[in-house]
Amino acid sequence: MDKILVHGGNSLAGSIKISGSKNSALPILAATLLTREPCTIHRVPDLSDTHYMLQILTHLGAQVERASGIVTVTADKVQSVAPYEVVRKMRASVGVLGPLLGRCKEATVSLPGGCVIGDRPIDLHLRGFEALGAAVRVESGNVKVFVPKLVGAVINLRGKFGPTVLGTDNVMMAAVLAEGTTVIEGAAQEPEVCDLADFLNKMGAKIEGAGTRRIIIEGVSELHGAEHDIIPDRIEAGTFLVAGAIAGSGVTVNRVEPNHLTAITNALSGCGFKIEAKKQSITVSPNGAPKPLEITTEPYPGFPTDMQAQMCALLSTTDGISVITENIFPQRYMHVAELKRMGAQVQMEGATAVIQGVEHLTGAPVMASDLRASAALVLAGLKADGITEVSRVYHIDRGYEHLDEKLSELGAHIERVKA
Ligand code: EPU
Repeated sequence: MDKILVHGGNSLAGSIKISGSKNSALPILAATLLTREPCTIHRVPDLSDTHYMLQILTHLGAQVERASGIVTVTADKVQSVAPYEVVRKMRASVGVLGPLLGRCKEATVSLPGGCVIGDRPIDLHLRGFEALGAAVRVESGNVKVFVPKLVGAVINLRGKFGPTVLGTDNVMMAAVLAEGTTVIEGAAQEPEVCDLADFLNKMGAKIEGAGTRRIIIEGVSELHGAEHDIIPDRIEAGTFLVAGAIAGSGVTVNRVEPNHLTAITNALSGCGFKIEAKKQSITVSPNGAPKPLEITTEPYPGFPTDMQAQMCALLSTTDGISVITENIFPQRYMHVAELKRMGAQVQMEGATAVIQGVEHLTGAPVMASDLRASAALVLAGLKADGITEVSRVYHIDRGYEHLDEKLSELGAHIERVKA
């Protein structure tokens, strides 16, 4: 198992290129199951999560070719059962339920368990499938959905914690092949949902309103093959901007969509950093002493939960008292105990972290627990005195394409070692 060693204290400068979005790529790859014809997807990031998704597609009968970020999937024949051994490594594998239900009118997928960021139910996905006429059975750890014919319906997908991203994706992917019109109210507005809708429309679907709270889907009888470029990963970009804020003298992220990052750049501006956005790039530079901040995570276009841990790392070394409230996954604070081991002063009050910024963090052996928490520990290590040894880095490899190499390009002293 690899470890990442971060030798703190180097100043980061320069630019890096942002990869395709993980959270777009996963449902878009799943959506290729909706047609017999080949689909070619460009800028698929080289991550363990995208590999897992391709393994699932292969298990389901699809032929997959992958060469330097370009993936072609041909799902000429598919079967509809994805057992535990195949799906257990990744919660997003639940995203094959919608396309399988659309294509085969039935799907059996092992239920995702909870994970360190919380309980992660799929009740809203299932509610959506039921509204389209499907029966749902949960037995022996599997969820089985089946229907003689999908029929469009009006569905509200808003849950207790707001809209659901993968739930919106899943229901949209089933509804494209339903008879009649489906209206998803309370839909997630994330750019990744729009990217999926764009891809589905290229396949012949008729979807309007993606990016708003109300998505309207006119069912069609068949979809065809299509070619698509994945949007840039706004969370990877945000992570590098925070790295630049923590330890940089001017860091630029290239090939980004600045509009997707507004909540993040607003937060960094609020902290006192200078932000310069161009058409496809953003630069963060220091601009006097950073200021503390209050942040609440919210569904898009609010501040993303996937950037909460990284902001915790930044605010841990920002003089003054900052407050972060996690509204999407109230238990998503596994990084806090590890940051404290590095000298951060954080007090938890329910889903709120009260952070008293300290002048110095100190390097320590720390344990990665989930993807974004792990990234936060690496970022903290950039600023810490001494060496931060991050173990369990397979969490990072799930969602960041060559994080250590890109940080090295910016001047960080970081190495990956075999444990
Ligand atoms: N929820 C329910 N019932 C459901 C589905 C969700 O109560 O049926 C709740 C969740 O427990 C949570 C909230 O609704 O409190 C939002 O969850 P959502 O369904 O939107 O999360 P997701 O679709 O499973 C995606 C991303 C996550 C990201 C969240 C929120 C993918 C593959 N994953 O998950 O990304 O945190 O949206 O934006 O798109 C990550 O990349 O590190 C990551 C965890």
